[in-house]
Amino acid sequence: MSTVPLEKYGPWAAVTGVARPEGIGYGYARRLAGQGFNLVLIDICTDELHERAEELRSAHGVEVKAVDCDLGDPDFLDSLRPQTAEIDVGLLIANHYISPEGSPSVLEMDLAAHHRMLDVNARAYTTLVHHYGGRMAERGRGGIILTSSAAALLGAPYMGPYSANKAYQRNLAEALWSEIRPLGVDVLAVLPGAVNSQPEGALDHYPKWLVMEVDDLVSRAFGALGRKPVLLPGLANAAIGGIMVRLLPRSAALKLGARLSGGTRGARGGQ
Ligand SMILES: NC(=O)c1ccc[n+]([C@@H]2O[C@H](COP(=O)([O-])OP(=O)(O)OC[C@H]3O[C@@H](n4cnc5c(N)ncnc54)[C@H](OP(=O)(O)O)[C@@H]3O)[C@@H](O)[C@H]2O)c1
Repeated sequence: MSTVPLEKYGPWAAVTGVARPEGIGYGYARRLAGQGFNLVLIDICTDELHERAEELRSAHGVEVKAVDCDLGDPDFLDSLRPQTAEIDVGLLIANHYISPEGSPSVLEMDLAAHHRMLDVNARAYTTLVHHYGGRMAERGRGGIILTSSAAALLGAPYMGPYSANKAYQRNLAEALWSEIRPLGVDVLAVLPGAVNSQPEGALDHYPKWLVMEVDDLVSRAFGALGRKPVLLPGLANAAIGGIMVRLLPRSAALKLGARLSGGTRGARGGQ
């Protein structure tokens, strides 16, 4: 089971999108609390967020600050900043997201919904890395993980806004990797395929060998932080990603990606 060094990234980590018990964010938070990290947990989902915070406090005896925050509010930093002003966040895991119901095409989706997705999935990621990453660069150590997606590799039909947002996150992480790694801050974009973080049945249309467990994903991400800029976790995911990006003509890759990602009408999940 991979861990991350407390002395390098600790004593405080911040994780966004962490309120659901089956979710990837909570998987990260559980592992970090088990290692002795104190945690800032940030989510819009208030009641569940406070339940997760209490679980981690009582199970691991660490300090946990739960921050209710709509990361899609362009001004969210005005309320988040004072709540973590006295906390030296050394590891940021940006993981929250939204995606539309019902697999609309790019043009069918309401323009306001596009803008909301950009605010939550793109703008907030930049705000978070700018704020916390800036502080890490000043102190000369830290780590940043952005949970992107294998959907970042190509624009699958009926997943256009999501895959575009995820490509934004991946490219942001890649640029940061070059820029702040020399300052002592490790950066990693994680591009999962299907992960078992969904409600029961949501991934039934995927072959079982393609679906990764949350704990496995966390182990692989922690093992890769500081070693590489981008991780496609899991052999199957990495092989499919490699084939789609390196071997296939783009049009063939787009067709394959549409089939594998469930990016067709009526088939959701595994994003
Ligand atoms: N599961 C997969 O198969 C898979 C595959 C590839 C990539 N990923 C990525 O992995 C990450 C975590 O996914 P997950 O499956 O673990 O989903 P999840 O548990 O639903 O995590 C997302 C969390 O973000 C919260 N959130 C949504 N909008 C927010 C906002 N405006 N401000 C603050 N928090 C907000 C959600 O709250 P609400 O529940 O209230 O919306 C939810 O608690 C995402 O970035 C996703 O794109 C997942």
